[in-house]
Amino acid sequence: MAAMAVPEKEIPNIKTIPRGPLCEGEAVIFFDRKEREYLKRLERGKRISIRGGMIAVEEIIGLEEGTIVRSSLNEPFLVLRPTLAQLIPNLPRRAQVIYPKDIGPVLIWADIFPGAKVVEAGVGPGALTMALLRAVGSEGCLISYELREDFAQMARANLAHYFGPAAHWTLKVEDITLHLEETDVDRIILDLPEPWQLTEMAWRALRPGGILLSYLPTILQVKTLVDSLREHGGFACIETMESLMRFWHIKGLSVRPQHRMVAHTGFVTVARRVARADKRQL
Ligand SMILES: C[S@@+](CC[C@H](N)C(=O)[O-])C[C@H]1O[C@@H](n2cnc3c(N)ncnc32)[C@H](O)[C@@H]1O
Repeated sequence: MAAMAVPEKEIPNIKTIPRGPLCEGEAVIFFDRKEREYLKRLERGKRISIRGGMIAVEEIIGLEEGTIVRSSLNEPFLVLRPTLAQLIPNLPRRAQVIYPKDIGPVLIWADIFPGAKVVEAGVGPGALTMALLRAVGSEGCLISYELREDFAQMARANLAHYFGPAAHWTLKVEDITLHLEETDVDRIILDLPEPWQLTEMAWRALRPGGILLSYLPTILQVKTLVDSLREHGGFACIETMESLMRFWHIKGLSVRPQHRMVAHTGFVTVARRVARADKRQL
């Protein structure tokens, strides 16, 4: 299917700079007394249902972030705009997202910078897409490949509802292994099962010094990818890492790690594209 810039008319008028009183169309997150999170959108004329109680959207539009509101059951909720770290785990989805703990390292190890030309595949619900769009800024561009039309639609809807206008985003509903056609790309970020199929194509698409980053759930996949990059000879500085993030419970004298943590999610592998493919680089 053909490449598609996201049509402007599908994007509601939500603010690109999330500041000032809460506006119609924006996403907000409610926190209850136990700090449980409820992601909602401010659609005028509608009522928000939380934990059996209702809140009219008109009561929330115009409030400052950080206000306490009460539902029809008199239950208090703190209302804020979600940060990306709060938004991503709450995104509507039918495919796994990359979690905030891994998105931080992805952005820094891929060295995403404002103005960068970045290619991404696959998109899934669009969690990483949002972080990449924010990092490349309006002077950069993100070209995203997604194999499945239904996932592409979900990503378009999530971006429109929870991210806002993104004129610097192009979504291609295509198999990247057949169609990667960009050149002079600064960074390629792959979240798909067999990235080694793209070793030669990624080398051709990247500019010298560009970065290929792959996110993979199992170490056997990582091994196949790294072997393929080394065998190709066109990549250097190949590194693989994972990140473990442990939250702490701090209340009164109870100061300890939280009982539960998200342990393994995925491995990040990065490599730099060198000028000429040669298996004996140094
Ligand atoms: C785990 S999901 C991506 C999640 C996404 N990175 C996020 O953070 O929300 C993997 C996606 O890759 C897509 N995919 C798999 N192989 C692909 C290919 N060859 N070309 C494009 N997309 C592909 C799948 O359809 C799926 O939506």
